[in-house]
Amino acid sequence: MKALVLSGGSGTRLRPITHTSAKQLLPVANKPVLFYGLEAIAAAGVTDVGIVVGDTAPAITAAVGDGSAFGIRTTYIRQQAPLGLAHAVLVAREFLGDEDFVMYLGDNFIVGGITGLVEAFSVARPDAQIMLTRVSNPGSFGIAELDPLGRVRGLEEKPRQPKSDLALVGVYMFTSAVHEAVAALQPSWRGELEITEAIQWLLDNGRTVNSTIVTGYWKDTGNVADMLEVNRLVLETSEPRLDGVVEPDCEIIGRVTVERGAHVASSRIVGPAIIGPGAKVTGSYIGPFTAIAEDCAIDDSEIEYSIVLRGASIRGVRRIEASLIGHDAEVTPAPRVPRAHRLILGDHSKVQIGS
Ligand code: G1P
Repeated sequence: MKALVLSGGSGTRLRPITHTSAKQLLPVANKPVLFYGLEAIAAAGVTDVGIVVGDTAPAITAAVGDGSAFGIRTTYIRQQAPLGLAHAVLVAREFLGDEDFVMYLGDNFIVGGITGLVEAFSVARPDAQIMLTRVSNPGSFGIAELDPLGRVRGLEEKPRQPKSDLALVGVYMFTSAVHEAVAALQPSWRGELEITEAIQWLLDNGRTVNSTIVTGYWKDTGNVADMLEVNRLVLETSEPRLDGVVEPDCEIIGRVTVERGAHVASSRIVGPAIIGPGAKVTGSYIGPFTAIAEDCAIDDSEIEYSIVLRGASIRGVRRIEASLIGHDAEVTPAPRVPRAHRLILGDHSKVQIGS
């Protein structure tokens, strides 16, 4: 069995961060979301992994390399434009050959991994196996309708009038039957070849499509609110570790990780929280569910329930909540009277000012 990991896509819902970064590399508890997926694939015993990449290919390739760090072997497959999940299968045809494969969307986060799913598929060998989860906003997903016996009756991509609240999770298992389905597709209203339609094609052509409903938590990390939630969830189960320097004048409460090379002084950190290598925290409060990446500087500030990316600095600001702060961003108070907001914001930035 092979794996196909989709790491193209432009991440429009995470702009402006994704103007300069691949959404699959955004960190959850200081680790790229994509890495959790690769670890889950390796844990399921799948080692031959094709990674479909788009414009952000250099960053993804640099981060994942030959895959040996994960115990896998990677093959990079270039998708010239984000033309849909089924299009990714199309361009990966040569890599996939006629083998069974698990397709994994690189921005999805599945708690509990995929080992159970891969095992169930290997035993039953349907032509497709999908994972479903209940969502409150079915119009934003591929949606499945089941019959009273729990069999998949039909699927629809981002329906205006959803027939259920069961969304397709971004992990799919296929036999080579999917290639015929994919080849038969026409672009959807959003101009993409939809994998949802390929699975519908399998149903229409008398193939077996099995589904499992996942009760475990999962999120599509395509937007900031979901990123913050996944970050919270992972931090909650993290093992506390103080490998960096924590000066005696600090108060550390709960699950807190301070990585080697980090320096924390005159500060109060209430976990779960993580401070990355090379980060400096002085005279500050870091509250629960906060991930501060490597080489950040937090000085005389308060922050909680937030993700701060590499090299960002926050000085003299209280309090920041529910925020995603990009690489090398600087957040400071306006220096002189009149008290005013001074903003240098990238395109598609979002700022909510509390005054
Ligand atoms: C894609 C699929 C959708 C699925 C979702 C899961 O949506 O098209 O069926 O429910 O991933 O993450 P997209 O991320 O392209 O909006």
